[in-house]
Amino acid sequence: MTENHVTVYEVGPRDGLQNEAGIVPTKQKIALIDLLSETGLRYIEATSFVSPKWVPQMADAAEVMAGIARKSGVTYAALTPNMKGLEAALETGADEVAIFGSASESFSQKNINCTIAESLERFAPVAKAALAAGVSLRGYVSCVIACPYEGTIAPEPVRDITQALLDLGCGQVSLGDTIGKGTSESAANLLDVLVGTIKADLLAGHFHDTDGTALANVETALSYGLRCFDSAIGGLGGCPYAPGAKGNLSTISLVEMLQAEGWETGLDMDKLHVAEAYLQTNIAGVADAL
Ligand code: HMG
Ligand code: MG
Repeated sequence: MTENHVTVYEVGPRDGLQNEAGIVPTKQKIALIDLLSETGLRYIEATSFVSPKWVPQMADAAEVMAGIARKSGVTYAALTPNMKGLEAALETGADEVAIFGSASESFSQKNINCTIAESLERFAPVAKAALAAGVSLRGYVSCVIACPYEGTIAPEPVRDITQALLDLGCGQVSLGDTIGKGTSESAANLLDVLVGTIKADLLAGHFHDTDGTALANVETALSYGLRCFDSAIGGLGGCPYAPGAKGNLSTISLVEMLQAEGWETGLDMDKLHVAEAYLQTNIAGVADAL
């Protein structure tokens, strides 16, 4: 990996499809992931092992993991909020699992039905078991800038839960601007506090693009030394428990910007267009959102 490399972490099959109103057929999810596997991506978040009562769109997580054609060199990741999710993910051979918390108490309650402190207690055995099983562990912090229920969130609670997730053994923590309210200024305020005590290479940016500011936030984060960004093919995405959350940063827009600035991504733009075109023509409901 050169100094000039930026990692693009594809979250479309999870963050994107979890938010679709209609259930996307499993075989279409698999076909999308298989196309993404051909693009040079090294990380694809394929699904999440969450309660199907909470997120029906992800109820086929095991079938998706079993059906994809694993490409060597690609890490296939899944969200695992608790031991039940972790055990199911491990059975399917997930390469990486993610625990996901929040800097906002209200969002924590709405999204995973517990307080922030309870979530960390719940994550501890998940983290331990994941690491013991030899899979890598990622963390997410939601609402790093703003919460759909509480408004602006201060950087300090974000720093505290980020550090707590790192202490549990996460190799990286992804900072979620869940409702896409970040600006260059608020992203800088956040990173001034975080990067003071946490190494930038332990952090990733996960910027939803509600107000079209995600690319500017990536620029700001690059200037603080972050070198990994989450994005979703077609700009899909949102969270069922975050009203107003629009799509994630579009993978193609992110890669276009990075390549224009001379960053290496290792990604094949033509193949990304093939994957995006598959979404547009095949995945019912998604086409309207693009
Ligand atoms: P709960 O209701 O408190 O859990 O939900 P529970 O332990 O009482 O279980 C309730 C039922 O769910 C039981 O079934 C469990 O077996 C089942 P029943 O006995 O009633 O038939 N269950 C499960 N089933 C399958 N897999 C599991 C699982 N766990 C329990 N893992 C829970 C707590 C965490 C499970 C629930 O709140 C949940 O699943 N939440 C997930 C919500 C979610 O997926 N949100 C979207 C992802 S986060 C996001 O998008 C933000 C991010 O992109 C970053 C950003 O943008 O900010 C990452
Ligand atoms: Mg998200």
